[in-house]
Amino acid sequence: METTEDRIQAALANPQNMGEMADADAVGTVGNPECGDMVRMWLKFTEKDGKKIIDRASFQSFGCQTAIAVASLATEMLKGKTVAEARDLNSADLSAPLGPLPPMKLHCGDMVEGALREALKADQGGPAAPTEPSPVIGETLLGSFQAKPLKSGKLKVVKLD
Ligand code: FES
Repeated sequence: METTEDRIQAALANPQNMGEMADADAVGTVGNPECGDMVRMWLKFTEKDGKKIIDRASFQSFGCQTAIAVASLATEMLKGKTVAEARDLNSADLSAPLGPLPPMKLHCGDMVEGALREALKADQGGPAAPTEPSPVIGETLLGSFQAKPLKSGKLKVVKLD
């Protein structure tokens, strides 16, 4: 029988939508000081039948395999969802395709939910955020997070408890 670990490994073998989105409308970032991991999510919106929907989502994650697997699935799940539908998704929904996460990995799903919430909050309904390539310091995502100045209203780092 396929276990959650098998599904995580399958998602990691072919992660979807990984990387910075140059023309994103919104971006959200969360970090967990306990494990040192971070997740950043970018969203691009479009309009369909008079409703604002998520056209595309992408992510970067620092370190944690479970967070990468959940984020990969989440970015696929978000395509075509309205903002209201996306707001209704919690970490259990976003990680559901993997099966139940072990207790010590629940916060990995919470990080992805947190990044999505921050991105939805950061969306002001305006034009695409101006973007610059992330500077890479020490060739880690953490380095690029630390190097990139925060822009109010567009990018927030929130530490989860
Ligand atoms: Fe912390 Fe997965 S171990 S995000």
